[in-house]
Amino acid sequence: MIGAHLPVLLPEAVAALTPRSGGRYLDGTFGGGGHTRAILDASTPDGIVLALDADEEAIVRGRALAADQAIGDRLRLVHANFARLAEVVQEQRLVPLDGLLLVLGLSSFQLGSAERGFAFRLTGPLDMRFDRSEGQPASILVNTLPPEDLTQILWRAGEEPRARRIVRAIVRERERAPIETTAQLAEIVSDAVGGRRGSDTHPATRTFQALRIATNGELAALEQALTGALSVLAPGGRLAVISFHSLEDRIVKEFVRRESATCVCPPEQPICTCDQQPRLRPVGKAIKPGPDEIRTNPRSRSAILRVAERLPDRPVGAGENDRRVR
Ligand SMILES: C[S@@+](CC[C@H](N)C(=O)[O-])C[C@H]1O[C@@H](n2cnc3c(N)ncnc32)[C@H](O)[C@@H]1O
Repeated sequence: MIGAHLPVLLPEAVAALTPRSGGRYLDGTFGGGGHTRAILDASTPDGIVLALDADEEAIVRGRALAADQAIGDRLRLVHANFARLAEVVQEQRLVPLDGLLLVLGLSSFQLGSAERGFAFRLTGPLDMRFDRSEGQPASILVNTLPPEDLTQILWRAGEEPRARRIVRAIVRERERAPIETTAQLAEIVSDAVGGRRGSDTHPATRTFQALRIATNGELAALEQALTGALSVLAPGGRLAVISFHSLEDRIVKEFVRRESATCVCPPEQPICTCDQQPRLRPVGKAIKPGPDEIRTNPRSRSAILRVAERLPDRPVGAGENDRRVR
């Protein structure tokens, strides 16, 4: 069954972007369109949202929203990976943007569709690509990667402590016959680690998460999107990112920390000579869903929202002779 997608941290994410009429916004992860719709509503009558998704099915679904007369050409939908967001915003002549939102991970539509291969509870091909028009399905990684590389993926992207044991079991099975379905892989992982053992989560959760992240190159895409955001946001424009995974959140947190630093000189240096120019200002603390949201939408439980504001670029030459005592 494919359920509707409940947008996570909706009021918080929309408020973070401070939408206004006439503003231009990018939703890099359209999904079921919940956040896009709310940004459009908050920027009536003429705010524009450029919405991207790597999954063409999400874009096709979004056409129904674009057909709504109240929205019309205020919504632009583009099938694209958010790694390319700066390029797409330029192509759409929407630079500079007033706000940019990314809600990482996958939608309930994708999770609920067996044939997309994201769910260990459903039987489907081991695919896991957001964009089925490019790249290789997860089955290629599972069946062809050297054991050491597969272990690294499970260890790094899944933070799976039993990576070695799981990979040994995968290799044993794939020597007999290729592992083609989600159910097959879920069973191999479950058997390898001795079942659920009183845990709330399915034993294959981390393995599936790691393979999804690797199949879609999600961490590299996020890095590229953050860098791209700096080049398309207006001074005062807001960047808001919702992550569901500690690795993603670390990337966002580190990026904001790096880009908001006023000095990057070595700590032992008494005088600042780096001429570092901060390009972001963190806005507030990280925001997590409250108990009510977690109750109505358990998938929100690991969500974390970080917000930053683009600072104006300093004019060329300014600050060059400014040697500050630290
Ligand atoms: C959690 S859902 C977004 C939910 C959406 N905000 C809503 O309210 O319905 C994440 C979406 O991002 C898309 N996605 C993930 N990685 C992407 C990427 N690198 N580029 C573009 N879209 C991506 C997925 O296909 C999925 O549809």
